[in-house]
Amino acid sequence: MTESTLGVSRKPRILVVDDTAMTRETIAAILSEIPADVATANNGEEALKLVKETPFDTVVSDIMMPGIDGLELLREVKKVTPSIGFVLVTGYGNVRDAVTAMRHGASDYLQKPIQNDELIAVVERAYENSKMRREIEDLRRKVREKGDISGILTCSEKMKSVLRIVQDVSHTDATVLITGESGTGKELVARALVVLGKRSTGPFFAVNCAALTESLVESELFGHVRGAFTGAHSDREGILGEADGGTVFLDEVGELPMATQAKLLRFLETGEVQRIGDVKTRIVDVRVLAATNRDLKEEVRAGRYREDLFFRLNVVSVELPPLRERPEDIILLAEHFIQEMNDKHNTTVTGLSQTAKEVLMSKKWQGNVRELRNWIERMVIIRGHGTLEVEDINIGKENAFSDLTARDFSWPDWPLEKLEQEYIKHVLHQVRGNRTVAADKLGISRVTLWRKIKDMEGE
Ligand SMILES: Nc1ncnc2c1ncn2[C@@H]1O[C@H](COP(=O)(O)OP(=O)(O)OP(=O)(O)O)[C@@H](O)[C@H]1O
Ligand SMILES: [Mg+2]
Repeated sequence: MTESTLGVSRKPRILVVDDTAMTRETIAAILSEIPADVATANNGEEALKLVKETPFDTVVSDIMMPGIDGLELLREVKKVTPSIGFVLVTGYGNVRDAVTAMRHGASDYLQKPIQNDELIAVVERAYENSKMRREIEDLRRKVREKGDISGILTCSEKMKSVLRIVQDVSHTDATVLITGESGTGKELVARALVVLGKRSTGPFFAVNCAALTESLVESELFGHVRGAFTGAHSDREGILGEADGGTVFLDEVGELPMATQAKLLRFLETGEVQRIGDVKTRIVDVRVLAATNRDLKEEVRAGRYREDLFFRLNVVSVELPPLRERPEDIILLAEHFIQEMNDKHNTTVTGLSQTAKEVLMSKKWQGNVRELRNWIERMVIIRGHGTLEVEDINIGKENAFSDLTARDFSWPDWPLEKLEQEYIKHVLHQVRGNRTVAADKLGISRVTLWRKIKDMEGE
């Protein structure tokens, strides 16, 4: 799941560049549904000016434009923001340009005519990857500057022994399965493994298996050839192929549909990638890291997950303990987050009162570190300065619905949108975070659920 900062969210900022007003507006309209903040530019010059003024996360640009064309824009934009996601839109028959573009650091390309679903999937993927790349870049800098190995704070012995495993396997190419409840730091560990590892400068892709529909996930991972299925308008390399020599992080790997599980197993056994609709196979060298908040052993027992795949993924297992099993980390993390939020919100909160500490220590923290971080953020914003007191925690509590159960539920005075959000959280909680089941219960698709969750949590 992406970073949650309830209440203080930031949508992805996307810049759409095309000299044809129709195309520009159509793309912008489709993307504004993600949801994202979408800006537009008529040409490369204007786009470059905007990128220098505002930090965009992703650019979607036409290739053929008068003046600065898409490829030149890509080069210039990368100089300003190296981690930016960049998607090129090509006319029919310009695939060669697109391939050149990928070599110059474009995240992806799309062929006209643009398909809504494909556009959204490609842009979301470019955005997620640029975010992760930025974070890896930050971490790398920290490792250089402070010798801080991973940005993972802890004073718990239990956690320290987990981190020793992380250190030890980071230098190898072993497949690692990272497990733990939601918000325990799985993504953080995956990033640390990449930064510390020998492939840290190689290609890196993160795929959120829960964010993709069943039919999309396979073509995202393995690629397809043009015409392989309805909607396959152009050849696509697939992430495993693109990541040759690098690392792929399969987040929420417990959500993979059965058919894709079989294909992934074959890849892990042989290193072979076969694009959908292709007769040829190709051997690639990719390190796989995977994470899930599901109990995969239980999924195997229930017949929902292939046992052989589980073993292949679980070569090294990193199990992150829930926060309630390492209470000594609560105050350490709380104080760290106070500093972080002070910097973020320009506040001057100095710390926690003794009783506030006790209350924090006694909570169950079902949402783990993420929930603690959100609480601290809300409290820091509300208090602004001085010490955080117990009353502040109670203010936090009125807004904290992660503990909400059907029993506690009485109709609050909320706008409909909020009510919907809380209901989604409630259902997710009931089904222990299983998004496939939750989507089913709510009568919406997994992608719609994913978007709604993303919308709730912001970046
Ligand atoms: N030990 C830690 N030190 C500092 N920050 C942490 C630590 N553990 C988690 N965090 C922070 O808590 C938040 C949640 O962590 P992360 O996204 O890695 O969780 P996750 O296990 O991947 O959750 P999910 O299963 O919901 O995707 C992030 O903001 C992360 O930076
Ligand atoms: Mg995660």
